[in-house]
Amino acid sequence: MIKLKILVLDDNQGVRDELGEFLTAKNFEIFQASLPSEATFILDRNEIDIIILDVKLPEKDGITYLKEIKEKFPYLEVIMITGHGDMDMVIQALRSGANDFFQKPFRSVDVEGAIQRTQRFIELNHKLKEVETNYSIITQELNSKFRWNLIAESPAMKSVLDLVVKVAKSDRTTVLITGESGTGKELVARMIHYLSARKNYFFNAVNCSAIPDTLFESEFFGHQRGAFTDAVETKSGMFEVTHKGTLFLDEIGDLKYELQGKFLRVLEEGRISKIGSNKEVEIDVRVVAATNRDLKQMCDNERFRIDLLHRLNSFVIHIPPLRERKEAIPCLIEYYLKEFSKQANKKIKGVDANTLRILQNYTYPGNIRELRNMIERAVIICDDDRLKLKHFLIDPEYIDSTPDPKLDIGSYNLEIIEKITIINALKYTQNNKSKASELLGIDRSRLQRKIKLYSIDEKKI
Ligand SMILES: Nc1ncnc2c1ncn2[C@@H]1O[C@H](COP(=O)(O)OP(=O)(O)OP(=O)(O)O)[C@@H](O)[C@H]1O
Ligand SMILES: [Mg+2]
Repeated sequence: MIKLKILVLDDNQGVRDELGEFLTAKNFEIFQASLPSEATFILDRNEIDIIILDVKLPEKDGITYLKEIKEKFPYLEVIMITGHGDMDMVIQALRSGANDFFQKPFRSVDVEGAIQRTQRFIELNHKLKEVETNYSIITQELNSKFRWNLIAESPAMKSVLDLVVKVAKSDRTTVLITGESGTGKELVARMIHYLSARKNYFFNAVNCSAIPDTLFESEFFGHQRGAFTDAVETKSGMFEVTHKGTLFLDEIGDLKYELQGKFLRVLEEGRISKIGSNKEVEIDVRVVAATNRDLKQMCDNERFRIDLLHRLNSFVIHIPPLRERKEAIPCLIEYYLKEFSKQANKKIKGVDANTLRILQNYTYPGNIRELRNMIERAVIICDDDRLKLKHFLIDPEYIDSTPDPKLDIGSYNLEIIEKITIINALKYTQNNKSKASELLGIDRSRLQRKIKLYSIDEKKI
């Protein structure tokens, strides 16, 4: 516990001594003053936590002085000593910023009670300040980290960013983010949150496919104690926990059909009730949903409710796959190369030109996440000063079109081209190895060896 500093201001020497003795015995550090001017002198030079002051003072009355010091020392707590039975004065003191009071002639229980309450108040204030400081450090860190995180080097991503900035401002609008896996849906959702007025509240990312069907309702709406067998405690649901923040519902397509109607109601009415309770509570939550599925088609198959889709469709942000914004690839590579070389403490200058060209023609079925993982792996195994093709596990099946004729055919590229050619021959002949070897002008056993050498997965042909 903090040893508090208490200043006693009373023109009566007897009162000062009595209070001083009593409080020193309780392990407080005591200061004394008989005049307001003297008290101000002490307050200016010491970090006093509590001042105990009489309503009747020389120089000026206690209430006037109370207002004065509350203005000058906002964190100073004030306990007033009032005349016995003078309720008007008590009310006036409390209204003017006093924290507590006791009456004259005083009883030690009253003094002790007033001090204890004030002490608890001060401690809570300290804790609150600590939490606020930590919180603002964390938010600052998050914000600065986050700023460097999103690369938008293509016109397509720039228009995505434009929408993000716009919808961030209207912080009640429900947003649906669509795009293939790994395109950055969650990153965009976070950005919407951190650019909005909700930024200092919770960004709660919930993956709908990770919640077992039986727990859905209780997870989202909470439950009252005893509402069902396992409900031993009353529990708040996701909506309540995210009050004032952003609820990110990832994979919304996996939301159980029966629950979709309930969800829609929450979105429309902004109110929920826990399972087992008929009390409704208002919730102020922005929902940002994401999916890599075709919700329209799911509606046609009656697996998604059309009314919920209409609601989500009010603001859609579609993130195109990486293969449709190839111009961003070099920038992303550079970004991740820098990040991972720093982590691995390696000095890798860049990617060699041919490799870069192949990386640019790759179609990235796993989008940015795949590119990121590829670079991470390449950096880990690279002992050169540049990343080369041998550092990458590129599946030629996903290389766009035939390689660029301008390519300088280095030894690694030759292998890649050979692998692609073999895959194409196998595809063309529907995995008929005799026909494929004939087409390639090599014998069947050589083709078999090559298939093994290049780890060509025949199941994918
Ligand atoms: N424009 C971008 N710039 C930099 N990094 C990005 C960008 N977009 C995505 N990433 C990174 O790619 C990875 C995948 O992003 P994210 O998790 O947001 O994708 P997603 O669309 O939610 O994927 P999934 O559908 O699989 O959940 C993350 O590491 C993210 O930081
Ligand atoms: Mg995601």
